[in-house]
Amino acid sequence: EKVVNAALLGLGTVGTGVYKVIRSQEQEMTAKLGCQVKITKILVRNIEKASKKLEDPSVLTTNWDDIAGDPSIDIVIELIGGIEPARTYILSALKAGKNVVTANKDLIAVHGKEILETAKAAQKDFLFEAAVAGGIPIIGPLKNSLEANHVTEVMGIVNGTTNFILTKMSQEGMEFSDALALATELGYAEADPTADIEGIDAGRKVAILASVAFNSRVTLDNVHVEGITKITAKDIRYAKEMGCEIKLLGVARCQEDGVEAYVCPMLIPAEHPLASVNDSYNAVFVHGDAVGDTMFYGRGAGELPTASAVVGDVFEVVRNMKADCCGRVGCTCYKSLPVKEMAD
Ligand code: HSE
Repeated sequence: EKVVNAALLGLGTVGTGVYKVIRSQEQEMTAKLGCQVKITKILVRNIEKASKKLEDPSVLTTNWDDIAGDPSIDIVIELIGGIEPARTYILSALKAGKNVVTANKDLIAVHGKEILETAKAAQKDFLFEAAVAGGIPIIGPLKNSLEANHVTEVMGIVNGTTNFILTKMSQEGMEFSDALALATELGYAEADPTADIEGIDAGRKVAILASVAFNSRVTLDNVHVEGITKITAKDIRYAKEMGCEIKLLGVARCQEDGVEAYVCPMLIPAEHPLASVNDSYNAVFVHGDAVGDTMFYGRGAGELPTASAVVGDVFEVVRNMKADCCGRVGCTCYKSLPVKEMAD
């Protein structure tokens, strides 16, 4: 029986989730794919700490060269996050003939073009479903199921932390700082929540969505970003009096003269489906000329929801390997649509 070997980079929340899902789905994956997917190496910073999470700690390494230089590894699953060393590892993995799956929105929103071009030249897959809206399938549908459409708009709630905060402010009348403290206490917000509350995390996701949806090239710099730090409980009470909720929306539109992309808090009429997307849930609207409006809803973060998206990409890589279908990376190549300047 054929075995496909994979290496995991990082064993944090998502890495642990991916390890669990691949282990628990082992038999089903083998039956569906006709070959076994095995995690044979895991790159971590601290072997002693990581050993406690695994039945078989012999797969652990602290040395990237153990993975880059191992020709038996076909798939690298990058879950360390951030720009470096993730960028270097991903580029060298692709150049070494390995496929790459990642959840790294920070990296793709800035260096996506370079990585996709490297993947294309190496004829390898670079897949990143988990980078936008966690467990919600949105990159795959934009690339595949909705391919027959001219997509003109993608918008939605793509940050769970801020949606949780706004939900608490709306439903319980909490002030922003109290709701943020609760989000931190419950583990939604990071120790440094700046990227979430300032709209930067949502901006990265909008850049990726716009790039994929419009076959364009949008980076974080192109996205006008405003967060929720200035929203008060009083603003939300006034919004309610007008029959609205305040939501942090990410919007990307494709117009004749170019692409516009922004993130900002907006008034949403209470009857609009996005107004009832609460707590840490995400939702993404897509408008296509053939399909009309579609909406994707679910968990935008968390161990198993994010692992669901990552492992879904692993399935796709293995199927592409079996079909020798490396041409598929070509579908993510960019043409150069201009990106419009956004006024502050
Ligand atoms: N900080 C992100 C959020 C995590 O709150 O949505 C998932 O990208």
